[in-house]
Amino acid sequence: MKTPATIKKALVTGGAGFIGGHLVRALLAEAAEVVVLDNFRTGNPRNLDELPVRFVRGCITDRDAVRDAVTGCDTVFHLAALVSVPESMERVHDCVSLNVTGLLTVLEEASSAGARKLVLSSSAAIYGDDPVVPKTEDMRPAPKSPYAITKLDGEYYCALFASTGRIETACLRYFNVFGPRQNPRSAYAAAVPIFIRKALSGEPIVIHGDGEQTRDFVFVKDVAAANLFAACTVGLTGVFNVGYGQSLSIHQLADRILAQTGGRGGIVHEASRAGDVRHSLASAEKLFAAGYRPAHDLESGLTETLDWYRTHADLV
Ligand SMILES: NC(=O)c1ccc[n+]([C@@H]2O[C@H](COP(=O)([O-])OP(=O)(O)OC[C@H]3O[C@@H](n4cnc5c(N)ncnc54)[C@H](O)[C@@H]3O)[C@@H](O)[C@H]2O)c1
Repeated sequence: MKTPATIKKALVTGGAGFIGGHLVRALLAEAAEVVVLDNFRTGNPRNLDELPVRFVRGCITDRDAVRDAVTGCDTVFHLAALVSVPESMERVHDCVSLNVTGLLTVLEEASSAGARKLVLSSSAAIYGDDPVVPKTEDMRPAPKSPYAITKLDGEYYCALFASTGRIETACLRYFNVFGPRQNPRSAYAAAVPIFIRKALSGEPIVIHGDGEQTRDFVFVKDVAAANLFAACTVGLTGVFNVGYGQSLSIHQLADRILAQTGGRGGIVHEASRAGDVRHSLASAEKLFAAGYRPAHDLESGLTETLDWYRTHADLV
């Protein structure tokens, strides 16, 4: 086996975001020097809590800002993106600009600067609503939104840069990420922080549809660790699912959160949302076969997340 690479200096685009904040902490814990490039489109300075990073405020489509940020970095984690499926439906051109042109700018500047590896945050959204589960990386993509199409585009550009020897790349298709610092108040917030917020404030949890739709929820610290693993594993390239390979229905999720918080608001059902995928489940085997093992599971991740929201009521 090859010796894993160490990261001396890393650029995290989107480092002021939910996943980015955890990744930055994981990198600092490994004694790496960290540069963050972010324009706070959806991120929050509080996610970095005065951490010892070099912060470059700028957009990933601004070549000068990207060049400045990537100087001297051996590794790039590209998280910055237009992150919401509904928003991508409304702002298709913005989505292409950020998720494709932005990525290309980062790939070009990272390879020109001599960076060794780029890890792209991709998404399970590229599988679309194909009913076959679990999703394996070799399944035919069926993207159903500009968000998913641009993430798939990004994977192809990463493959192109790797195959032409410009920079080694790996793409991680996250399933449903949850954990501390996930914003429950954004217009496009995810189920876990919304449910926790409702439960802690005694309000009913709203489920769209019958609640039998299932998801593969993965704890954000394991997503950060998967990024480090992909970056440090020399020769690891291509696309990899990041999930637990464990499915939980939205109803089960709400029940667990109510049980753990003692929430008294109960559950109410509303009409299902157009475009909601019925079942989403990862096959996590490819990344496991490469040697990655998550340090948490759904239970421990949910407990840690609830503890965080309880002690950060100001954010909930
Ligand atoms: N959260 C999930 O469940 C999930 C699932 C699949 C994939 N992803 C991907 O993971 C990545 C991180 O997602 P997140 O959940 O942390 O979202 P987030 O919105 O919290 O983080 C995105 C960060 O990128 C920054 N950003 C956006 N546009 C930018 C631009 N033009 N220039 C510079 N910075 C910009 C934002 O300000 C924010 O800090 C994204 O690429 C997202 O598509 C997330």
